Parts: sequence; structure tokens; C-alpha cells
Amino acid sequence: MALQLLVLLLITVLLLGVLFVRRKYAYWAERKVPYIEPRFPYGNFADVDRKSQADISVEQCNQMRSTESRFFGLFFFLQPLLVVTDLDLIKTILIKDFNYLPDRGAYHNARDDPLSAHLFAIEGNRWRSLRTRLTPTFTSGKMKMMFPTLRAVADSFGEFLVGAVGAGTELEIKDTMARFTTDVIGSCAFGIECNSFKNPDSEFRKFGQQVFDRPRHGTLVRLFLRIFPEVGQALRVKSLRDEASGFFFNIVKDTVTYREKNGIERKDFLSLLVELRNTGEMHLAMEEIAAQSFIFFGAGFETSSSNQTFCLYELAQNQEYQERARSCVLEAVKKHGGLTYEAVCDMQYLDQCINETLRLYPPLPWLERKAFENYKIPDSNVTIPKGMKVLIPVFAIHRDERYYPNPNRFDPNRFHPEEVGKRHLSSFLPFGEGPRVCIGLRFGMLQSRVGLATILSKFKLSLCPRSTVPLQYSSASTVLQPKGALWLKVEPL
Ligand code: HEM
Repeated sequence: MALQLLVLLLITVLLLGVLFVRRKYAYWAERKVPYIEPRFPYGNFADVDRKSQADISVEQCNQMRSTESRFFGLFFFLQPLLVVTDLDLIKTILIKDFNYLPDRGAYHNARDDPLSAHLFAIEGNRWRSLRTRLTPTFTSGKMKMMFPTLRAVADSFGEFLVGAVGAGTELEIKDTMARFTTDVIGSCAFGIECNSFKNPDSEFRKFGQQVFDRPRHGTLVRLFLRIFPEVGQALRVKSLRDEASGFFFNIVKDTVTYREKNGIERKDFLSLLVELRNTGEMHLAMEEIAAQSFIFFGAGFETSSSNQTFCLYELAQNQEYQERARSCVLEAVKKHGGLTYEAVCDMQYLDQCINETLRLYPPLPWLERKAFENYKIPDSNVTIPKGMKVLIPVFAIHRDERYYPNPNRFDPNRFHPEEVGKRHLSSFLPFGEGPRVCIGLRFGMLQSRVGLATILSKFKLSLCPRSTVPLQYSSASTVLQPKGALWLKVEPL
């Protein structure tokens, strides 16, 4: 009798469970929103550990293309998410109706993991006030001021390459460019000479790599924390590895203390952050200064190094474009008497190559927004409820033949100013858009131009037997990166 009761109880619990899951998965159907059939327990994200986010987004968008809807629904576990694909609606969400969806919902935990509470992740008034205060840090004037620091790193980089390449060699480009951007951002955000060319075991490089290539949690847990941040915070889950956050915090604390004791002034992001605190413009604890330096480093080194890596990879396969980019660099250098700030701002064709690379390989394949209050989608009967996540599939939009004919082909002419003017603003979103657009856009572009100009002015790049064609993307990395190493042949000109 007892056994029968137990079996009955189990069946009832199972049935209730099935009904509960069905009810949850009926969310989009009930609202008459097209959606991709989810599968328990992962919903539409069972593949995240095997496939890159870029590939997943293209598959999902292609699958939903025939619905001709401006948006479609997905599920992460049992949680509904909305993907918006219509360019006008994307523009409205990012710009005009920004106040309804002002946050990203990125996981952070200021109490247990202070470095995670940085500009990219924080929300509400704290974000607003910090963003307003930090924006002047990235003006053209400040970029010009920081240029000598950037140039000094580029010069050492050039010297290193001359030695490493010799009469010609095969070079692992991904690691080489990561070392360059590590040194640039280390120097500009932390005031530290990292020297990761001369010292391959540099701690900056080690911890920078750790943050991106060996995050504390796997993709599934990271996605879970993004969708259910409150659960993670309640369970006191940290997102950064302890030794990495300890390293970055100590570097900032020691550098600030050293500079204050010795009256040292440097023209870098760290000085600008300390200035904000010292002028009383904003109360910033050391943890908060460290968190901002950390995100400048985190957001600045991997994005720019991936951009330069992919650009060199494409130029190695397109000698004609490579030659044009080189001529553009050499002409600007000649015109301005060296690789000056003015010269790097006068390299239109190189910019076209960088932008075409950002189109094909946007470092963030998705933009994310979280509804701050209920938001009725214009010209529809659908309301995005408070707290729901909205995804904008940047990678898939950039590879959509409706906006870019023959979309997988690298063609810098697409970014000739005349061509750009013909396209919708939301068809190109490598830096995001609206009030939450990338704050480091100018610095990112500057860094890419300087790194690429340094290489192209001295070396010719081509494919070698170890080059991978076509590329596959890493499923582990948070930023779009090639899977494994990326080798190219590099020869002095
Ligand atoms: C090629 C280089 C770069 C690319 C492609 C890139 C891309 C992005 C993207 C897509 C976003 C999200 C925008 C949105 O949600 O609308 C973002 C945000 C951000 N980026 Fe960048 N980024 C680059 C370089 C940099 C650099 C060099 C820094 C700092 C020195 C930086 C700092 C940030 C920060 C702090 C945010 C968060 C802004 C906020 O929420 O207010 N990025 N970036």
C-alpha cells in the first residue's frame, strides 16, 4: 500500500513538473510571438558549450527568417528572452526608448567580488553618474594626450617584431596582438609597463589571459548568472578568479599609493580616475577605481587584439587590399612626418579595413538589454515585462545578405563613406549604440590603427601551411576569437 502511494506521489510530482514546464514554455505561444521550440532543460541554449555564440545566433536568426517577424522568442532554461532583428526597432530600443531598457543585466557582485562592479555591469543611477563622469576621459583631446604612451608601446612592439621575424617566419598572430594590446592597456589603464613581448610570462598577460580564456565558470554557468543575477548574488557567487582580482586590485592600489607618495603624474586612465576622486567630483573607493581600471583593461585589450588579429588574417588572404592599406599608412606617415596622432587619424582606407573586420568579426556577437519597466513594443500588442532580457544579434545582422551582399566576403570598400551613408544605422553595431555605446570606441580604434600601421609599414603577411582556412570560433571565449592558434607568414618588406 505504502509503495503504491509512493509511486502515485512520484507520478503526480512528475506530471505536475511536466505541466509546469509546458506552462513556462507556452509563454511566447500565448502572446502570439514566433519562437524557437525549446527543449528541457536548457531551452534554446543546449549548444553553448560546443558552439560559439556567433554561430548560434546565425542559426537561430536563419531559422526564424521566414516568419518575417521583427522579433522572436527564445528560452534560457525556463526563462523567456526576446531577440529583436528589425533594424528600426533596434534603433528605437537602443536610442529613443533607452530609458525603458537602460541596463545590460551583466552579472556583478559588488559585495563579494568588488572588481566585477564596473561600468559595463553596474546599473541605474550609479551607472548614469559614473558614465557621465568618465565620458570626458575618452574625448579626442584625452586620446591625443595619451597618444605618446600608446606610441611608446608601439615602438617597442615594432622593435620586437623586427627581431622576432628576422628574414621571415611564421608567427602566431593571436598571441602577438594580445601582447601588444595588453601592454597598451596595461600602460594606459594601470600605468604599468607590462613588457609582455620581452617577458612572455608577464603577470599582466597571464591574468589577462585567465580572465578571458579561463573564466571562473563555464559558458552555461556564465549565461545562467546573466539571466538570474539575483540568484547568483544571493548565493554570493563570484565571477572572477580570486587570484586575478587580487592581482588587479593590488596593482591599482600600489600604483596609486606610489604615485601619490612620489608626486608622479602620468597621462593615463588611472590618473584621470584618481583626479575624479581627488577633486571630490565623485566618491570613488579604491575598489571602485580598481574596478574601472579593470574593465578598461578587460574591455580594451581582448576586443582590440581580436580586431587586429582578424584584420591581419583577412589582409593576408587579400594581397591587393593589404597593399592598399600599406600605401594608405605610408602616405599618411609621410604627409604628417611620422606615425603621429594626426597621421593615424588620416588613414581612411585602414579605417575601412578595420570597420570591415568589425563587421565580419564583431567582438561581442550579441548586445544585451534588460527591461527596467514594462515596455510595449511600438506597433505591436507585445509587452516586454520588467526584468526580461532583450538580445540584439549583432553578428547575425552583420552577416545578413539583405544588408551586405555576399556577406562572408571581406571587402573594405563597403566602408567607403558613400557606401556607409546608404545603410541603416543599426546594420553596423560593433560598438553598440545609444547611451550605453562603448565608451572606449575612440581608444579602441586608435589602438587598432597604431598596431596595424606598425605591422603593415614594416612587414608583408600571407597564409602559411599552419594557417587555418576557414576559421572556426572559440566556444569558450567571452569575446569572438578564433579557435586555437592563428598562424601567418610574416616577412620584412
Ligand atoms: C575594437 C575595440 C572595441 C570594441 C569592438 C568594443 C565593443 C563594445 C561593445 C559592443 C560594448 C557594448 C555596447 C552596448 O551595449 O551598446 C562595449 C561597451 C564598453 N566598452 Fe568597449 N569595445 C572596444 C574597445 C574598448 C576599449 C579600448 C575600452 C576602454 C578603454 C572599452 C570599454 C568599454 C566599456 C567600459 C563599456 C561599457 C560602457 C557602458 O556600459 O557604459 N571598450 N564595448
